[in-house]
Amino acid sequence: MSDTLLYEGKAKQVFSTSDPDLLRVHFKDDATAFNGEKRGTICDKGVLNNSISSFFFQLLESKGVETHFVKQLNDRDMLVKKLAIVPIELVVRNVAAGSLAKRFGWEEGVELPSTVVELYYKSDPLGDPLINRSHVAALGIATPQQVEQIEGAGLRVNGVLREFLRQRSVVLVDFKLEFGVFKKDGKILLGDEISPDTCRFWDAETGDKLDKDRFRRDLGGVEDAYQEIWRRLKGECNADA
Ligand code: TMP
Repeated sequence: MSDTLLYEGKAKQVFSTSDPDLLRVHFKDDATAFNGEKRGTICDKGVLNNSISSFFFQLLESKGVETHFVKQLNDRDMLVKKLAIVPIELVVRNVAAGSLAKRFGWEEGVELPSTVVELYYKSDPLGDPLINRSHVAALGIATPQQVEQIEGAGLRVNGVLREFLRQRSVVLVDFKLEFGVFKKDGKILLGDEISPDTCRFWDAETGDKLDKDRFRRDLGGVEDAYQEIWRRLKGECNADA
């Protein structure tokens, strides 16, 4: 393929295609944590995250959430609409874990009485700081209407994925989303990926972590956890609905 590498991130490469409105995303096995301080590879992570993300994007599209997903091209590549990325990471949380539990001194695993939505400024040099709407305005990175749309979409995604996963005996603890503007029509679309790299998934019965926390916290069984999530999505488990 004569596609040009446009951008290389920690877990993905982005290539041009013959259509200026479309990009090819290539999922790598590389994994990092703590803003790149910890590095490693997770065998076949790229293959699994491509399949898992494609699956979730299709599910969300079927429920009326607009995403950048066009189609899965092969085991590691996805065709997507080219977005001007809004440099905001939206985190939606149902259960206290990770940085939220740390910030408030809460025990991990406590169900939150109401859903928590957080904005982070997507900036590697700054280490993705937590921001609020007035910071977004002062930074000039999105309009108030765009923030409204992004938060609304995040809550809709939460509703769809939480219920879908519940039926597969997986608790959707929290997740991170990224959005961008599709130049062709100016719409804000859900971008990036939705995978065990960007979500916390816990087994509803055992509480076992089925996500990248196994890599971040050196818990072992990383590959098996990613495989297990893919099996659950395909319905290959005997979890009660
Ligand atoms: P946190 O508890 O570390 O803030 O993470 C919240 C969620 O966001 C969790 O599901 C993991 C995801 N996440 C990313 O996708 N990328 C990141 O760089 C970080 C820090 C978290």
